Amino acid sequence: MTEFASRVEQVSISGIREVFEAATEDAINLGIGQPDFPTPAHARRSAIEAIEAGRTDAYTSNKGTHQLREAICATYERDYGIDLDPADVIATSGGSEALHLALEAHVDRGEEVIFPDPGFVSYDALTKIAGGTPKPVPLRADLTLDPATVEEAITDETAAFVVNSPANPTGAVQSEADMREFARIADEHDVLCLSDEVYEKIVFEGEHRSPMEFAETDNVVVVSACSKTYSMTGWRLGWVIGSNRRIERMLRVHQYAQACASAPAQYAAEAALTGPQEPVGEMVDAFENRRDIVLDGLEDAGLEVPTPEGAFYVMPKVPGGWCDEVLDRDVIVVPGDAFGDNGEGYARISYATGMEELKQALEIIDDATTAVRRQL
Ligand SMILES: Cc1ncc(COP(=O)(O)O)c(C=O)c1O
Repeated sequence: MTEFASRVEQVSISGIREVFEAATEDAINLGIGQPDFPTPAHARRSAIEAIEAGRTDAYTSNKGTHQLREAICATYERDYGIDLDPADVIATSGGSEALHLALEAHVDRGEEVIFPDPGFVSYDALTKIAGGTPKPVPLRADLTLDPATVEEAITDETAAFVVNSPANPTGAVQSEADMREFARIADEHDVLCLSDEVYEKIVFEGEHRSPMEFAETDNVVVVSACSKTYSMTGWRLGWVIGSNRRIERMLRVHQYAQACASAPAQYAAEAALTGPQEPVGEMVDAFENRRDIVLDGLEDAGLEVPTPEGAFYVMPKVPGGWCDEVLDRDVIVVPGDAFGDNGEGYARISYATGMEELKQALEIIDDATTAVRRQL
């Protein structure tokens, strides 16, 4: 008998937390993974009204309210031409729970899950918690995931591969051609494509496309959330969509682990999805403006940085000792190796922070980069 489950013993607390804990109170935080905008007023109001009317005193249906799931279906029909039924949706406690359900329901002990490296920290951890074997794969030079790399990594043991666009930590957006390829690979190899689309609306050039639009089988499961689009990370409201048989398996986990997503958050999410979308457009414009300023600042400092087309992160290549030097000067950035071994030599910079702070941080980064180069 061991005291703790080996699946859990393999998982460590995210490296991102360690960076925050080491920082002083005066530090400029470019490590943030959430938008610095308020949740739209109509979404907040809807939750308040629901609470005051006593509509939040009970569990909702395990899958979430019918109205919320209808609102989710309507956005997929409108934005991607994906025809969904409310039965194909589970409202979850954020995108995080949705990822957990998808991996728990589809990955058997020892089976492999392929995911991008550098990539969002949960893919590795949730694969291990599900008893699976992580199989991180490297990215192209522009930090997108090459479908050919995924296809080569597939073996008889592969249960799933993860696609994340726009991506954390890189901000990279996969092209439509790539998304078509991911769909083909899922179809032909009969493996699950788990598409993490939580940044789907934060795209600066072109539009987000989902592999679910192109797949001929039900081998694509999509995870998304209100968290980033509507600046609702604290509400904990996301969803997973898939075919009936897949949703039914994921519901078996959700029903016992969660019962239902928070009811006030469900009312807020329904209002966010069905109400005016102007706040999203304004936020995305602000992010694009900041991205351009950050890119200019990093290039002026002499750093090589692929142009990210979405989310609110940039991932420059940095010389050895750079992250420590920047952190010592009270600017929080996340070392790239917190996102996988191939993140070594990179840093993630989030621009979900005010313009004045960003400009100040860029000056500090410029000085720190010069100092590091001198030491080399
Ligand atoms: C790529 C990616 N997927 C999923 C999530 C989880 O989002 P949520 O806050 O909705 O759980 C995050 C959060 O940072 C993320 O960056």
